[in-house]
Amino acid sequence: MMLAALLLSALPATAQVRPMRTDEIPEPIRREGWLSEINAATAQRLRDGEWDHVIFYALQSQRFTTLAPIEPARSAKAFHDSSAIPPDAAKRLEAFFDAKPQAERYQRMRRMVQSLAQLRTEYQRAMSFLYEKEWASRARQGASRRDFIATLYQTRGHSTDTELRATYGVHIGLSLLPTPEKKIRRVLLIGPGLDWAPRTALKEDTPPQSYQPYALADSLIRLGLATPDSLTIDCIDINPRVIEHINAFAASPRRLSLLYAHGDADWNSYFDKLGDTAGRREGAIYTVHKAIAENIRALRMNLLTERLTETYDLAIATNVLLYFNDNELGLAFANIALALKPGGYLFHNDLRPAIEQWAQSLQLPAIHARTVRLDPSRELYDGVVLHQRSE
Ligand SMILES: C[S@@+](CC[C@H](N)C(=O)[O-])C[C@H]1O[C@@H](n2cnc3c(N)ncnc32)[C@H](O)[C@@H]1O
Repeated sequence: MMLAALLLSALPATAQVRPMRTDEIPEPIRREGWLSEINAATAQRLRDGEWDHVIFYALQSQRFTTLAPIEPARSAKAFHDSSAIPPDAAKRLEAFFDAKPQAERYQRMRRMVQSLAQLRTEYQRAMSFLYEKEWASRARQGASRRDFIATLYQTRGHSTDTELRATYGVHIGLSLLPTPEKKIRRVLLIGPGLDWAPRTALKEDTPPQSYQPYALADSLIRLGLATPDSLTIDCIDINPRVIEHINAFAASPRRLSLLYAHGDADWNSYFDKLGDTAGRREGAIYTVHKAIAENIRALRMNLLTERLTETYDLAIATNVLLYFNDNELGLAFANIALALKPGGYLFHNDLRPAIEQWAQSLQLPAIHARTVRLDPSRELYDGVVLHQRSE
């Protein structure tokens, strides 16, 4: 009896989610009814994002047709210039609608489609946005172009796209933690994502995967920040598809197929070792240890309008904050600050000035910020930003 009680007290509490109240909104942006408006907008953006994935898949996949893949940005230009669905895209939409393959992605997406007309309408919506982002933005230069694209992101559909490179920035950020001897036990991963159907370079030889939770566990253990037996990672996401995938992973063969992307010596070294500590690495396959996978779970939660009942030593949010406008960042930071223990860390990759302002006023000042080069051949950079919750 006593042993059972001891074991129970050693287990981390299961996190619960509750709605945020209006009086918990930071004062300068507090407004009655705003949280409901965000919930409605999030539902719409989630829906649009799911349809964007369907259209990107319909244009690129080779699982349901022998028609040549179409680069979505090119299709967006052709659609804009002719004010009509280009013939090659029209043929692919028809093929998508008529086909009957077994592929998991295809089947799930096909279940969403009621009619060909609906598919065409969604093509037009998705391509109109893509034209703005990829082509209309070119009329601007430098900072003005970056600001224009950033604003588009703050209303666009929510994508679940994710790639392995995002995990490298996190690894670098974690290696900067000033107190590596401090053991991290509870981690909050915000928006882990699932590679589903990206805007470009769709790869179909691997099943849908979510890398971030398992790469994060590996980095934390490899860097001596956590031990396998005491680490738990709670993932939160608005997308049920992501939640379902992560919660089913521990009971699956727990295999991730790691796709190599070109990079410099540091990236190569990271890529070669990825999976060695939280699992077993054989070539491109990282098999996650069962005990690690069982301590990674996912909850459906909107970071902007909901709060967690538990507190964490570390929170991670990459490629999520860019979907929020400056006022919404105030909600995100209020909720993250509350979810962190005093002295706990937040890592993200967004260098926007509004973040620094909110972080200061919400007891979560930045302690490190820089850019890191991900791919020297493409001059590809990412932000590495670390905050610490005031004691
Ligand atoms: C573009 S993916 C990024 C995935 C991964 N973090 C990465 O860096 O590759 C963004 C993820 O954040 C989730 N997300 C977007 N808004 C959110 C919100 N308000 N609350 C929780 N999750 C959100 C999306 O559903 C998606 O899974």
